[in-house]
Amino acid sequence: MIKKAVIPAAGLGTRFLPVTKAQPKEMLPIIDTPTIQYVVQECVDSGIEDILIISGKGKRSIEDHFDKNYELESRLLEKEDEALYTHLRHIESMANIHFIRQKELNGLGDAIYHARFHCEHEPFAVLLGDTIIDSVIPVTQQLIDLYEQYGQTVVAVETVPRENVSRYGIVGGKNLSSKVMQVNKLVEKPGPEKAPSNLAIAGRYILTPGIFRILEKTPRGKGNEIQLTDALQILLKEEGIFAALIEGKRYDIGNKMDFLKTTVEFALKRKEFAGEFEDFLRETVKKIDKAKSQSDEKPESAF
Ligand code: G1P
Repeated sequence: MIKKAVIPAAGLGTRFLPVTKAQPKEMLPIIDTPTIQYVVQECVDSGIEDILIISGKGKRSIEDHFDKNYELESRLLEKEDEALYTHLRHIESMANIHFIRQKELNGLGDAIYHARFHCEHEPFAVLLGDTIIDSVIPVTQQLIDLYEQYGQTVVAVETVPRENVSRYGIVGGKNLSSKVMQVNKLVEKPGPEKAPSNLAIAGRYILTPGIFRILEKTPRGKGNEIQLTDALQILLKEEGIFAALIEGKRYDIGNKMDFLKTTVEFALKRKEFAGEFEDFLRETVKKIDKAKSQSDEKPESAF
């Protein structure tokens, strides 16, 4: 049984500056819902209601988001906006959320190490706070199912183009089925020549508590940070690790292009926007095509 989840959310969000200068990247909204709320919802949909968020400097709005806001709620009641009122009540009660601050940014491994007293003796899920995965069965639930089968650490992976392997933790190993691999190597952000495969760690894990003993001593790695991937490579000598190919679509919200695509795709799924927004997109595509054909037709400059 996996009862606890850890959501690391202390990173600076430098890839999304300037908006992340005074606002956590995990609070960037996909339409009207902060990214981290989707992540918390994935925990809840996977049967986990005890969540530890690793926060840090400038991240207080995450706490406020999951807290009660009496003034707002009474205002909504006065206006008889029952739907919105119920929605706000849902957010504050969706899970039992705890916070701990990572005072110095020493990497993902160090962030997870902050969960040692909360998850000391039991396996737990890890969900990166800036990553949404859209799927029929929540990816965390997919990993829990595998953990229940193998009783060992499980990491979610997805295939990425070879030229992008240096952006991710990459795993190699032996295929047990078309979806599951017994891992024998993990490398954080390798160059294409050193990558054991093109299977990238996708921001979801089930970790056994043995990871804490290892994280305590894991030396700094890529980017001079304590890397969870390096700790997992050490864990491999003591325990098995499995990789599961995710069934779902991953959106890295800390990346501007992914953020744009997520917003469009999620808007198309919302009934209240679908018709008008689809028309807008069709018109926009027409304008793009027209502008392109006009520029293609332009006679070549005489100079
Ligand atoms: C982290 C992990 C990496 C993983 C990635 C997924 O890297 O260290 O192994 O593949 O998340 O998004 P980051 O993107 O925080 O640099």
